[in-house]
Amino acid sequence: NENQTKKQSPDKNGFEHFMLKEIFEQPGVIKNIISNYADNKLFNSNNSFSKEELQNIDKIYIVACGTALHAGQSGKFAIEKFTKIPVLTDIASEFRYNNSFIDEKTLLIVISQSGETADTLGALEKGIKAKAKTLSITNVEDSTIAKTTDKSLYCNAGPEVSIASTKAYTAQVALIYLLSLDMAKKLKTIDDEDLSSILIELKKLPEKIEEILQNVDTIKNIANELKECQSMFYIGRGPDLITAKEGSLKLKETSYIHSEPFAAGELKHGTMALMDSSSKVIAVATQSNLSKKTATNVLELREKGVSVYSVGVEGDVLLEKNSNYTVFIPETLDVLSPILTVIPEQLIAYYTSLAKGIDVDHPRNLTKSVISE
Ligand code: AGP
Repeated sequence: NENQTKKQSPDKNGFEHFMLKEIFEQPGVIKNIISNYADNKLFNSNNSFSKEELQNIDKIYIVACGTALHAGQSGKFAIEKFTKIPVLTDIASEFRYNNSFIDEKTLLIVISQSGETADTLGALEKGIKAKAKTLSITNVEDSTIAKTTDKSLYCNAGPEVSIASTKAYTAQVALIYLLSLDMAKKLKTIDDEDLSSILIELKKLPEKIEEILQNVDTIKNIANELKECQSMFYIGRGPDLITAKEGSLKLKETSYIHSEPFAAGELKHGTMALMDSSSKVIAVATQSNLSKKTATNVLELREKGVSVYSVGVEGDVLLEKNSNYTVFIPETLDVLSPILTVIPEQLIAYYTSLAKGIDVDHPRNLTKSVISE
């Protein structure tokens, strides 16, 4: 009947593509996750470990593929900062065959939008065999991965139709932030005052995402400059390097432009030799202790004729002066900025794909879930 077909074929709600619709759903998705946490409705014994179980953990591994791995790598900073437990991250297809040091004192977190990715499932099975505690973050509650882990956290982001993952990414990052606060509270590695100030900042993220979504003119200008280029670079430091990786993947998979993410501090160790006046770079510089260094890299690139488009924090006049264009995100805590910084990158990828006349929801050679190795 009509309702059933409606359920089976989610519609675009008036947006031109599912990717844009899902980008614009992010404020609501993040708001829902954070308010569930604030109302003590997010965590329970099915999706988080007890204090006693956590006290027995001396290492955390986060393992996933593609965008889901980037979510885990963004979240790593929060888990280490709040719980003081060391976090290692790895590509699932590497982890499952590497000498990983996992045992019953390891917490293995696997992240997968579909919950069916073969390599991530393979990595999980390796962790289970090694007696690690396991927790999954998925967007499909009854997926294979969600049913296989000790604990499973659900993104509740709604079906993600576009091949390029956007709202699942920010939902995964938000859930890792909240999981790290839940663990820190149980382990008493964070005091109530810090906890409440972080929660205040978290609650402001949805409206800050909305603010970015309402200012797309500069983003469209950047997309217009990128549409002709064959190859470009993303650079960043710390959490901004992970967002550079995610932005690079988004651009590759939606616009077929070769792009490479790079640690900004690594440019001088070889990559700078590739740069000439036709080169284009996206610089991500939002971390208060690192953005000036990246702004200096931007200036060095500009002096070689390179075009640099930056993502920075409102008020960063140095970055703006050094860049061809700068997209600003509203100020937030450094550790929480990845949820905001990724929004301009999602939109840059989307509008570049559109400018190239590509079917952005169905990029060539890709499927939504990679269920074979
Ligand atoms: C993301 O935009 C890509 N479609 C891809 O990298 C994806 O993140 C990866 O295949 C993992 O999928 P999963 O989250 O369903 O495991």
